[in-house]
Amino acid sequence: MITLQSVVKQFATKKGPLTAVDDVNLQIHDGEIYGVIGFSGAGKSTLIRMFNGLEKPTTGDVVVGGDHIAQLGMKDLRKKRQKIGMIFQHFNLLWSRTVFDNIAFPLEIAGVSKTERDQKVNELIRMVGLTGREKAFPSQLSGGQKQRVGIARALANDPTVLLCDEATSALDPQTTDEILELLVTINKKIGSAIILITHEMHVIRKICHKVAVMENGRIVEEGPVFSVFQNPQSSVTQRFVKDDLKDSESEAAMDDIKLAYPTGAILRLKFAGSSTEQPIISRIIRKYDVDINVISGNVSHTSSGAFGHMIVHVPEPTKELFNEFEQHGVIVEVERRG
Ligand SMILES: Nc1ncnc2c1ncn2[C@@H]1O[C@H](COP(=O)(O)OP(=O)(O)O)[C@@H](O)[C@H]1O
Ligand SMILES: [Mg+2]
Repeated sequence: MITLQSVVKQFATKKGPLTAVDDVNLQIHDGEIYGVIGFSGAGKSTLIRMFNGLEKPTTGDVVVGGDHIAQLGMKDLRKKRQKIGMIFQHFNLLWSRTVFDNIAFPLEIAGVSKTERDQKVNELIRMVGLTGREKAFPSQLSGGQKQRVGIARALANDPTVLLCDEATSALDPQTTDEILELLVTINKKIGSAIILITHEMHVIRKICHKVAVMENGRIVEEGPVFSVFQNPQSSVTQRFVKDDLKDSESEAAMDDIKLAYPTGAILRLKFAGSSTEQPIISRIIRKYDVDINVISGNVSHTSSGAFGHMIVHVPEPTKELFNEFEQHGVIVEVERRG
């Protein structure tokens, strides 16, 4: 368990004190994948760096697995850090060392014997999918492969916590998805909590269980990813969700739809949680032998179900149809009643 209690971090700057983290309270449970999202400068990196003592809170307390991080002496902190792995946007690999030796490095520092080290490194290389690349140097690897080395290195001492600061921000979308999948596998296999910082909502949506939204050093919203997405409260969260859905249908687009389908009903169906779109619509089409034309859809999938909306045209709407949607937990908004 990680607990942050009234954590404040101020930096002294030429313009006076700057509050980077402003009274943050958080609890992250073992085995959780916890996302922190915010725009650049929100205080995310400063926050995560207090988890492993790279920064000390000005006031407040950071407790990781029962240890008050700021109170540990240098020796104990070094030991503690072995159990808190960290990966970075720009990988921070040792460029003169091979893949194998990069991953072995934290084990050398921890004083693990050569035999044990070799065995552990080989196991990690298999786990992150780098078999065959042991002797390569970082400069010979793709971005995704470099991050796999970063992940393997972070896991070398079997950490209970893995901190990821914009770990996929330098990667293309496909590679991002592969790395996110690897993180999910690690979370399931090793059970380590993963704290993931990002400015990209889709990263949160794809793998996080919970999310905190940061703005100006504060957490403005927090909770299960699904509920935060479904019902964003703060304006910054609403913006992230909206950008993610690329909800670009303007009123003008709806006017076009109405022109294109001059008769019948036009409905906006809102999906949440287990009510994924396709099975429900096809089931209803079969059951009532009705036509439902899907005009546009924007359904996203989170780790705990799908949500989003879909615009459909129903030539001959009936009351049963509406009831049926609602029974499946689909919210129906009528753009035009038939
Ligand atoms: N070492 C530092 N000294 C002074 N100001 C800092 C330092 N580190 C971060 N800041 C400031 O704190 C704020 C939050 O930064 P940061 O935690 O890096 O945000 P994020 O990771 O969300 O982009 C920014 O205004 C940044 O300029
Ligand atoms: Mg940052």
